Amino acid sequence: MNIAVVVGSIRKDSYNRRFAEALAKLAPEGVKFNFLRIDDLPHYDQDDDGDNAPEVRRLKAEVEAADGVLFVTPEYNRSYSGVLKNAIDQASRPYGQAKWKGKPAAIVTVSYGPLSGAMAAQHLRNVLAVLDMPTLNQPEMYLQWKDGLVDEQGNVGPASKDFAQNFVDTFVAWVRRFKH
Ligand code: FNR
Repeated sequence: MNIAVVVGSIRKDSYNRRFAEALAKLAPEGVKFNFLRIDDLPHYDQDDDGDNAPEVRRLKAEVEAADGVLFVTPEYNRSYSGVLKNAIDQASRPYGQAKWKGKPAAIVTVSYGPLSGAMAAQHLRNVLAVLDMPTLNQPEMYLQWKDGLVDEQGNVGPASKDFAQNFVDTFVAWVRRFKH
């Protein structure tokens, strides 16, 4: 099983990336988490629909090859990040040829604030609905970044380990339900 992971922060020391990499270590045997690159994508421009840049073609091929998609994003101004929206838009066009369609998805948010990205997740959920992506409802995973959430070795810290393992196992079972 191939899970595409799209991280909505492109900064070097991103907490979301660190947490996503720790989550990937909890994947069961035979499940690969494939991190998609989005930092080199051009801005979405409808004029390019018939002539995509190589980076956009790469993204589309990777999404197409995925059995499911895990979005891990910070909250920016009570929504998810612009770079993530750009990546979603890029692989959603031309009209009727969205690569996301039908891919089971889940959302994780890691943010610095006490609301932990819950509003970002809700905005993203609206967008995944129009793309016809069946999105895991429970467990919800909104995390406030704290020291120890990811330990020195890059593993999920002890306080959140069981929750994270349950999330990964539930998501993998969710993706399996849609795999033909
Ligand atoms: C933020 N941050 C933030 N946090 C939050 O909980 N709710 C919010 O609405 C916002 N808004 C916001 C806007 C902008 C432009 C930035 C740069 C930051 C803080 C954010 O959670 C924090 O910077 C995280 O560290 C971002 O995630 P990464 O880059 O560490 O993965």
